Amino acid sequence: MTADSSWIKKVVVVGAGQMGSGIAQVFAQAGYEVILSDITEELANKGKERISKGLDRIVKKGKITEEQKNEILSRIHPTVDLENNAKDADLLIEAIIEKMEAKKDLFKKVDKILPERAILASNTSSLSITEMASVTSRPEKFLGAHFFNPPPVMKLIEFIKGYQTSQETLDIMLDLGKRLGKTPVVAVEAPGFIVNRLLMPFLNEAYFALQEGIASVEEIDTAVKLGLNHPMGPFELSDFIGLDTILYIAEYLFNEFGEDKYRPCPLLRKMVRAGKLGRKTGEGFYKYN
Ligand code: 3HC
Repeated sequence: MTADSSWIKKVVVVGAGQMGSGIAQVFAQAGYEVILSDITEELANKGKERISKGLDRIVKKGKITEEQKNEILSRIHPTVDLENNAKDADLLIEAIIEKMEAKKDLFKKVDKILPERAILASNTSSLSITEMASVTSRPEKFLGAHFFNPPPVMKLIEFIKGYQTSQETLDIMLDLGKRLGKTPVVAVEAPGFIVNRLLMPFLNEAYFALQEGIASVEEIDTAVKLGLNHPMGPFELSDFIGLDTILYIAEYLFNEFGEDKYRPCPLLRKMVRAGKLGRKTGEGFYKYN
């Protein structure tokens, strides 16, 4: 039976970057009160500004009115002060830097702030949910909630069951996922979960194909877009995700599985070392203005 998530009304999103702000937007659009927190006021406010710009685009397209946009924005509260703003929250989603120690420090802290009933979730793209849950007093109320970039547009949420995540927690989150207008899938904890387990070898193989001179960046992207009906080719998508993020996940899969098929392509390493990280640095496989 599906557990009811209607008691979840106030959500904290920690990390106001691209993913965190996107996740905050998804919740605010679905009517939830959202605390959007980061390490400085400036970063938290920037997250809200990013949401506002994204909403402007859909106002222009006529999908929502200016009034609806303002209502959505009024539900998002940027802050650095979790002690005072998260103490009555029902759910927290972490979307900070992909470093296990930083995540554990955060979860240790928020576990003491949020009420006992609250569920804690990480938007990690591959790291161990069980390890993060282990520093809290509520590992049964802890799970992975992996959104996809851009969160307001992408339909999928991967829910990851850690070693001690309870079925009740999972059922509540499945119900919540549907209320957000998303399609949830469930995976038990394993490196890369479902999507990144499949995506990373695919992207990596594209880098090897390029390195071997099989075809150009444009040709490989065109082949994948038209031959597989993907919205973006592997190089466009890599630039969109960020090459540093991809290398980080690819290395994690390689280290965890210890199998050569996950070995990151040297071309990817070189580009990351050269600072060609994709859209965010103005250049990756393509150049951006
Ligand atoms: N809020 C709400 N809706 C928005 C929005 C926003 N901020 N921005 C755009 N939209 C809506 C638009 O209104 C539009 O809706 P419509 O089709 O009904 O008119 C739709 O989203 C598409 O927007 P655009 O027309 O502006 O953009 P494109 O059609 O060019 O699509 C894209 C852009 C959605 C990014 C598409 O290219 C795509 O799907 N790319 C692949 C993305 C992908 O694979 N993401 C996953 C990355 S992997 C990941 O995240 C895992 C991590 O762990 C690495």
